[in-house]
Amino acid sequence: MKIDGTSYRSIWLNDDGWSVNIIDQTRLPHEFHVERLTTVDQAAHAIKAMLVRGAPLIGATAAYGVCLGLRADAGDVAFNKMCEALIATRPTAVNLRWAIRAMQDLILPLPESERVSAAYEKATQICDEDVAINSAIGDHGLGVIEAIWEKKGKVGPLNILTHCNAGWLATVDWGTALSPIYKAHDAGIPVHVWVDETRPRNQGAHLTCWELGKHGVEHTLIVDNVGGHLMQHGQVDLCITGTDRTTAAGDVCNKIGTYLKALAAKDNNVPFYVALPGPTIDWEIDDGVKDIPIEIRDSHEVDYIQGKDSAGQVSEVRILPEESSSANYAFDVTPACLVTGLITERGVADASKEGLARLYDRLEYKA
Ligand code: MRU
Repeated sequence: MKIDGTSYRSIWLNDDGWSVNIIDQTRLPHEFHVERLTTVDQAAHAIKAMLVRGAPLIGATAAYGVCLGLRADAGDVAFNKMCEALIATRPTAVNLRWAIRAMQDLILPLPESERVSAAYEKATQICDEDVAINSAIGDHGLGVIEAIWEKKGKVGPLNILTHCNAGWLATVDWGTALSPIYKAHDAGIPVHVWVDETRPRNQGAHLTCWELGKHGVEHTLIVDNVGGHLMQHGQVDLCITGTDRTTAAGDVCNKIGTYLKALAAKDNNVPFYVALPGPTIDWEIDDGVKDIPIEIRDSHEVDYIQGKDSAGQVSEVRILPEESSSANYAFDVTPACLVTGLITERGVADASKEGLARLYDRLEYKA
């Protein structure tokens, strides 16, 4: 995507040909800072501390992390150890495990002397494929948006609600949920996006608003509990979110609060779509509520809010009485029965076993 005239991906190889550049997303929207990663530990830290986040980008960063680790030690023991350490950085998004398993399948049979170059080639391929996949998600999602726009009699704006950040910052480029929105905007459809703030880390306010603003897409920030009210009053034409893990039966696990939006959408007959790339499907499980591990993060994220004051100083303030405590669940599961359709790079599927099986062979994306 273009930022002030310059095209960026969210992760790319540095000009030196081996170190890896990322955009430090913890500093957005106040500062655009490119961080250079030179070791696997730095890559693991970037994932864990959420300098990078979003299911596909976590996978891409882990793949390049493996490359950095192999430069230091290409032996089996070190390699397997770093893979397990990377997988442990975040538990919910399945793309992480998928990317690491893809690296392991490729690297382990190779002699040590060939591992580094093969790893860089594979990591670059994972990134390039992610861009192509997300662009295709955008094309299929554009079809969904066009149909709803037609049904609305092309009377604008077309109001789309999204939760968290599933834009280009969450992937290598384009995004999943935001890719159809960018394509609709570029096609001249007057989209307006209701952006959920997405507490506790405010990825909606910090990242989605920033991205949409840079692309010139009309948007309005709302706090997390507004969506249901807007739907009751005909102010939402459709919802599109991303997903961190989708079960073989079409349950979707996404940022905490997604489930409540899907319930409100169902109650108000608002189409609720989820956009996802193939590597986000976990073919090993059907029941997302029972089987997807939900990340529980440090409660500091709930207890404090970060922002910039009128003097331009970025800082955080505590919002909780000192004697109170909080819990920080990062994701929830939306059952397939609440999902109108899954927008994938291969087309729009019913959120069901049969729907996904029509588009994918379950062995293709082994995590
Ligand atoms: O905790 P995060 O910021 O990594 O969570 C990200 C999300 O929940 C996204 O919606 C999801 O990864 C889909 S991104 C294409």
